Amino acid sequence: MKIGIILGTRPEFIKMAPIIRELEARKADFFLLHTGQHYSANLDGIFFEQLNLPKPRHALGVGSASHAEQTAKILTSAEKVLLEEKPDCVLVQGDTNSVLAGALAAAKLQVKVGHVEAGLRSYDRTMPEEINRVIADHCAEYLFAPTEKAKAILRGEGIPAAKIFVTGNTIVDAVFQNVEIARARVSLSNWRVSPNQYVLVTVHRQENIHNKERFTAILEGLEKVAAELKLPVLYPVHPHSRKMMEQFKLKPAGLTLLEPLDYLSFLLLENHARLILTDSGGVQEESCVLKVPCVTLRDNTERPETIEVGANLLAGTAPDKIMDCSREMLGRDRSWANPFGDGKAGKKTVSILLRSSHG
Ligand code: UD1
Ligand code: UDP
Repeated sequence: MKIGIILGTRPEFIKMAPIIRELEARKADFFLLHTGQHYSANLDGIFFEQLNLPKPRHALGVGSASHAEQTAKILTSAEKVLLEEKPDCVLVQGDTNSVLAGALAAAKLQVKVGHVEAGLRSYDRTMPEEINRVIADHCAEYLFAPTEKAKAILRGEGIPAAKIFVTGNTIVDAVFQNVEIARARVSLSNWRVSPNQYVLVTVHRQENIHNKERFTAILEGLEKVAAELKLPVLYPVHPHSRKMMEQFKLKPAGLTLLEPLDYLSFLLLENHARLILTDSGGVQEESCVLKVPCVTLRDNTERPETIEVGANLLAGTAPDKIMDCSREMLGRDRSWANPFGDGKAGKKTVSILLRSSHG
């Protein structure tokens, strides 16, 4: 079986890495197609380097554009590559525009699609990611669901059980494979902080940063947290957020704004944080796996398992609610269970794919 892996953004590099590692170990026939959705060195090259990912055989270099333009460019260029490579299956991971376009290009050519991290739903169609994940799921022949809950959602949408495989989430594999390396190679002294004596933040969701009121309210909430806890608040700022901060002339006081961090640095900072505040999908999962309390700066989440086990609370964007949720999470016992699997999702995914090609 020849497998094409289509990927294009930071979380896809991280969550696809365990699958790529396993394909390499089994000497499977596969190639990488990098859409170029992320291209800045600190969102792209550094992850290939740290995760030891092979050089993509195809690099589309699409860059940034409106949703339609970016999706269309990927769709057109990916089709050419798929016609030339003729893979038996294309794998995509998550919910970005690269995933939508990659899945659609393959499905239209009747190449089987495998969707890693299938069945997540926020039920919020204002999120571009919700549209992308619904379409990718419905293009897919193999749906790799991280949890039983995700499988039940897919069944509820009429997808046959035979196409759905509960594997766990490859983020657990990535955390297990890299946290010790991060501990050995990176030191908290780089940021002049000590274990448990700082708060870590990320904010980059379009619905938060494109809306001046929401973004302002979030930053006010973070300032409150910094002032009340009297702890440094480290915030590596995604370039998209940096751009909107400049456009809205937002200048948060009392927060330590950083450039986007490499994976090992970020993982170490997550590992030792007192509290994490985020609107990221992957960071909600990682904090849950690492047993660090999380407050989610959104009104909904497609990762409800994190809330059910007691690792996460939805705060929305009101400053007082952000503070209240932070206080509550700081009081929580951290002994919750990890709902995202045993760290073997990559191996399971590859076994299912390779087995299906013999059957
Ligand atoms: C994308 C995904 C989002 C994911 C995130 C991971 C979509 C719709 N969004 O958001 O789901 O959570 O990646 O980080 O697919 N930019 C750079 N350098 C880059 C890439 C982007 O500076 O390498 C800046 C540009 O100003 C660009 C903006 O970020 O216009 C947005 O980039 P885009 O790829 O559209 O979305 P992300 O916000 O990165
Ligand atoms: N991450 C990182 N450096 C940072 C911020 C995040 O390496 O400065 C990693 C983080 O460990 C997680 C992933 O990026 O695995 C999450 O990506 P992001 O928040 O951009 O996207 P989402 O998961 O929301 O789609």
